[in-house]
Amino acid sequence: MNSLALPLPIVRTVSALRERMEPWRAAGERIGLVPTMGALHEGHLSLTRLLRARGCDRVVATIFVNPAQFAPHEDLARYPRDEAGDAALLTAAGVDLLFAPTTQEMYPPAFSTKVTIEGVSAPLEGEARPHFFGGVATVVAKLLIQAAPDEAAFGEKDYQQLQVIRRMAIDLDLPVIIVPAPTVREADGLAMSSRNKYLSPQARMQAAALPKVLEACVAAARGGADLADAAAAGQAELEAAGFAPVDYLTFRDADTLGPPQPGRPMRLFAAAWLGPVRLIDNFAV
Ligand code: PAF
Repeated sequence: MNSLALPLPIVRTVSALRERMEPWRAAGERIGLVPTMGALHEGHLSLTRLLRARGCDRVVATIFVNPAQFAPHEDLARYPRDEAGDAALLTAAGVDLLFAPTTQEMYPPAFSTKVTIEGVSAPLEGEARPHFFGGVATVVAKLLIQAAPDEAAFGEKDYQQLQVIRRMAIDLDLPVIIVPAPTVREADGLAMSSRNKYLSPQARMQAAALPKVLEACVAAARGGADLADAAAAGQAELEAAGFAPVDYLTFRDADTLGPPQPGRPMRLFAAAWLGPVRLIDNFAV
């Protein structure tokens, strides 16, 4: 484990990453990977601790704001970036190595490959942001191949992303365990997200309605309410709390993200806008 006294080693090329990791692999150490886009918060740090608690001897974090998962009209240019602050947090969390490649390193000029995951990518975020999962799958496939970790952790806050990555790892026979991590929430229940920084003080207060409404919908579903009615009531409550538009609020099968099936695990998903900020959240039913 990286000592608190030592600065976190940062590598920016795939060859330097592999060179740093080589002795760990040769020594038979178990390696965990935490892919991120930076602007780190407690949710990301919980992923590093989870991997350590699962027995990873080494934890590598990556920071790469991946242009391939942003549409032209989205917030790539103003996505929050603070590598020095992030490195300090990762150092304190005991992370061993930070891989922070340039765009040129990840996508050199002749780069032409795109990883597409069908099925689970299609609904919800796939409808709202059609470019998104292709970009995520491509960069995560690259990171998993570059670092070749034993385990990689992803938060359940982005539950559909987690399912897409699980599907990809299975379909491509990637020799990695994909570890799901519970959503970390603020005191008022709002799921931690790098994009929460964009909320105005007023919107930040309104945002707490999202998890509360979803929890009420989950309670209604558990109590036997009709799912469509519970979802419609939840959507109306979000709109009354100032969310506009609500992109979706819907119960889905927890594995396929298709319509719920009797006797199978189910989850509630929502995406909604508060001014210019789009928030997503989900809960198990
Ligand atoms: O969840 C994120 O931060 C990103 O989508 C990920 C998985 C790091 C890929 O860029």
